[in-house]
Amino acid sequence: MDQAIASHKATRGSQWWRSGVIYQIYPRSFADSNGDGIGDLKGIEQRLDSLEKLGIDAVWLSPFYLSPQKDGGYDVADYCDVDPLFGTIKDFDSMLEKAHSLGIRVMIDLVPNHTSDQHQWFQKALKSSPGSPEREFYHFKDGLGENGELPPNNWVSMFGGPAWTRVKEKDGSLGQWYVHLFDSSQPDLNWSNEKVQEAFEEILKFWLDRGVDGFRVDQPHAMAKAEGLPDHPYVAEAGAGFIEGRENPPMWFQDEVHPIFRRWREILESYEGDRAMCGEAYVYPLSLMAKWVRPDEFHQTFNFRFLDAGWDPSKLFDAINESFEAFDGVGAPSTWVLNNHDVMRHRSRFGGNYGRATASDGVGPNQPQPDNELGLKIAKGATLFMLGLPGASYIYQGEELGLPEHTTLENKFRQDPTFARTGGQRVGRDGCRVPLPWDKTSSSIGFSETGKSWLPQPESYGLLARSVQEKDESSTLSFYRQALSLRKELALGEGSFDWVPGHLGPDSLGYENSGVQVIYNFGQEDIDLGSAEVLISSEPIVGGVLEKNQCVWLRNA
Ligand code: GLC
Ligand code: CA
Repeated sequence: MDQAIASHKATRGSQWWRSGVIYQIYPRSFADSNGDGIGDLKGIEQRLDSLEKLGIDAVWLSPFYLSPQKDGGYDVADYCDVDPLFGTIKDFDSMLEKAHSLGIRVMIDLVPNHTSDQHQWFQKALKSSPGSPEREFYHFKDGLGENGELPPNNWVSMFGGPAWTRVKEKDGSLGQWYVHLFDSSQPDLNWSNEKVQEAFEEILKFWLDRGVDGFRVDQPHAMAKAEGLPDHPYVAEAGAGFIEGRENPPMWFQDEVHPIFRRWREILESYEGDRAMCGEAYVYPLSLMAKWVRPDEFHQTFNFRFLDAGWDPSKLFDAINESFEAFDGVGAPSTWVLNNHDVMRHRSRFGGNYGRATASDGVGPNQPQPDNELGLKIAKGATLFMLGLPGASYIYQGEELGLPEHTTLENKFRQDPTFARTGGQRVGRDGCRVPLPWDKTSSSIGFSETGKSWLPQPESYGLLARSVQEKDESSTLSFYRQALSLRKELALGEGSFDWVPGHLGPDSLGYENSGVQVIYNFGQEDIDLGSAEVLISSEPIVGGVLEKNQCVWLRNA
């Protein structure tokens, strides 16, 4: 890409979301308080102290709502209730209070593109006739073909297979079809229906009234669909997705979503404090994504360009330039991210040259295995490189322990719908969702008192338990703590950005933020660090040089 070289001016301000570090909790795998092998809200509350020590500003909780758990809770049956698996609404309030008492803000996950098929809106729609207001909550359509036996268009599901399922009408006859961009148990809502819009405004208020600090919004770019639901113009090449630079398919980033986010922003701003929304917006190019973080829309959107760059210096160089250009243009922070519950953990991803597709498809025992030693080295360097950048950063539970992906999970344990929907061709995302190791000496490595764990933990997690790493100054955990504390002390999140001449790739990338130089060595040659003061490095610096795959923060002498 022919890209201008970016620079970014410091944005001092009190808005935490511009520069904060947000830690993603995947509740079912964080900590189990009642021994059933599934993490829960009480488990989170009991372990919040360790996150305070880590030095994060906020947590984002993946869904804990009432749900049949067909997609790890991203199939919500009641947006205003807690699933008994995770506890009660009282447990939520108590967890929130504890977090706030520790100075940790809490963002929760809002899933507006689809509900569970068990949601009462969908159940009512099923029992109502075609054309009824109940069916208008979703996208019900008559099928094509003589007897409506063919799906209404050519859309396919993100999880594999068709994006349409046919229902039985009240009289038992085969009837209309409904669209689901994900699993068939996740029918898409019809966002052109004002009733749907109003219902979600109430949901937002319900949680804001309870005191949440904001929302991570799931699949916002899928919410609005083009009028009439036309065919995907190049489904054969793109499957469920889109190809950047090509015509925009009818289910992704339609302009009609913007008024909805503006209304949500108004609601957030009508509450005291600094509440924020982060969109999981897969919108490319970033110049288009920037529209989503205009001052009256989302506060943040995940910078997936950065995550998708792998650890390739020229892609990263372009991604960073493109990010500052796009987001500075609308006065928004860039929101950096390398991990979440949908992609292979970066330690393993970078230890195996996996492409973007493999990262979200997962890796199983029959596929090439990562080099987890090399992976850890690169991952720590990558994290240090990310944490020096101005803007907000997200980290995903377990990356502070240097956890690898579970790449040898037996198929019988797999729960991600992707696995079943593709007949096992894509193993899915279970490998990054394995319960956390807390204490080496207990069963299930301290995740649960009974030793139960909804997914088995790989053996390697034992030595990576938090209790072990807490006592070890050279551990990955100590490294994350140190990096987060320095980042705060030096106010790097609110800082400035300029590339350092001589480090524009491909052998090294280097930038300066508020008097601190951050350099990553991608090349074969050592880089002499001269007399500069080393503030922190991803691995010990030996002989005054930065070796391949090491990253350092320097202050000029
Ligand atoms: C988002 C979630 C993912 C989920 C999907 C459908 O991408 O992060 O886990 O499967 O949306 O809700
Ligand atoms: Ca539990």
